[in-house]
Amino acid sequence: MNKKLIVFNWKMSPQSIAEAKQLLAQVKVERLKVKENKFALVICPPFTYLSLIAGLINKTRVKLGAQNVFWENQGAYTGEISPQILKNLGVEYVIIGHSERRQYLGETDEMINKKVLAALKAGLKVILCIGENSAIRKKGKKAVEKFISDQLKKDLKGIKNWKLKIENLAIAYEPIWAISTTKKHKLENPQDAIEMSIFIKKTLQVSSFKFHDMKVLYGGSVDSKDILDFIKHKEIDGALVGHASIKKEEVKKIVKILNNQPR
Ligand code: PGA
Repeated sequence: MNKKLIVFNWKMSPQSIAEAKQLLAQVKVERLKVKENKFALVICPPFTYLSLIAGLINKTRVKLGAQNVFWENQGAYTGEISPQILKNLGVEYVIIGHSERRQYLGETDEMINKKVLAALKAGLKVILCIGENSAIRKKGKKAVEKFISDQLKKDLKGIKNWKLKIENLAIAYEPIWAISTTKKHKLENPQDAIEMSIFIKKTLQVSSFKFHDMKVLYGGSVDSKDILDFIKHKEIDGALVGHASIKKEEVKKIVKILNNQPR
């Protein structure tokens, strides 16, 4: 069965191994019912906790993801982590192109494209983040669609010739203005997310990519109060959860919600 993907992006948290263990314990308290469940859960901790978490999770229940990767597998690249290092640690998924990396670390579409290709080549499953900023959103729907389809073209350049397994790539639509915001500014209306998800799927189908049934997740201040509002729709294939995924109570609630969904 094609499961919906729920991705916990811990970003630069928590601050210690002890806290990381506590956070993971919350997921375990509720024990994601994977066999009967419609959802797969991916936890993306900072690099420093990857091997710790790898040793603590049951990989049939929870998948391990990284928040970034470099595009070369070997060489003198101080501070970088290669796709192969991740694979060897037992990492299955990798987030690429998160808006915070684009914004604060100067990641360009060209760099992101190289990362996507290298990660796929190494056998990692890629979660590619795309999304417009508030200035583009203010220009209206056409401007947003143009931006998103340009981003897809640049970030996925060159992969149409690959024998891409559809489960190896998911797109996370994350409007930048909705990420890590207070309730007031976040995307209140899942209809927007549904429409963008349809647009992204269509773009990937009819463009030169010819990708069918691509998973499109939504991200942007999703928490236990509204996760269902997004993922209950057939057009949205999951959620990328940031700050709520590092709050113990939220984690418990979200896993409970996932477990309580009709099979
Ligand atoms: P947020 O983060 O849930 O804090 O908005 C989403 C993300 O990590 O992109």
